Amino acid sequence: MGFPLGRPARLAVIASGRGSNLASLLASFPPGGPEAEVVLVAGEKERAPALARAREAGVEAVHVPWDTREGFEARLDELLGDRGVDLACLAGFMRVLSPWFVGRWHGRLLNVHPSLLPKHRGLHAHRQALAEGVSESGCSVHFVDAGVDTGKVIVQRRVPVLPGDTEETLAERVLREEHVAYPEAVRLVLRGEVRP
Ligand code: GRF
Repeated sequence: MGFPLGRPARLAVIASGRGSNLASLLASFPPGGPEAEVVLVAGEKERAPALARAREAGVEAVHVPWDTREGFEARLDELLGDRGVDLACLAGFMRVLSPWFVGRWHGRLLNVHPSLLPKHRGLHAHRQALAEGVSESGCSVHFVDAGVDTGKVIVQRRVPVLPGDTEETLAERVLREEHVAYPEAVRLVLRGEVRP
């Protein structure tokens, strides 16, 4: 299967947390949307606000328990297949997926990371940026590969790092850009304009 599909795409969002990126994807790709629609939200945290947000929006939300990575991935893979998902978006999903899963979803699995990759990969990206003393940071939406935040970048958006910034103030500034970058990256992939 390749993009463009010639029909509205079916999107899944995989999230563990508060789900603000999910909210921006839902707003851009609502049920019945012409380009794409979010048809499924899944995550390993049963009480994650992201799952509640999806249900409020009338989108199916499934808790997929994380007993082992293999178990989680097998169930998630089956769920995505069952729902006919074309593109899966990790949005605040706090686990690392295996090469098996990433290989199966090659070119159809995206992630958002709060730094200008390849800088500041992994955990505490804002802390890393502040410790390094950079004058700008930002966010990256990228294809997921078997590494941590190493896949091909699709969209980046930049913000200044301001005097007196804390991890919180910088995170807030970057998050606003994530909400713009993620839908933009999804559109580029669906139109076949950026390939893995
Ligand atoms: C975002 O900053 C994202 O870059 C990071 O986790 C955060 C998720 O936020 N991977 P939200 O759950 O989408 O609000």
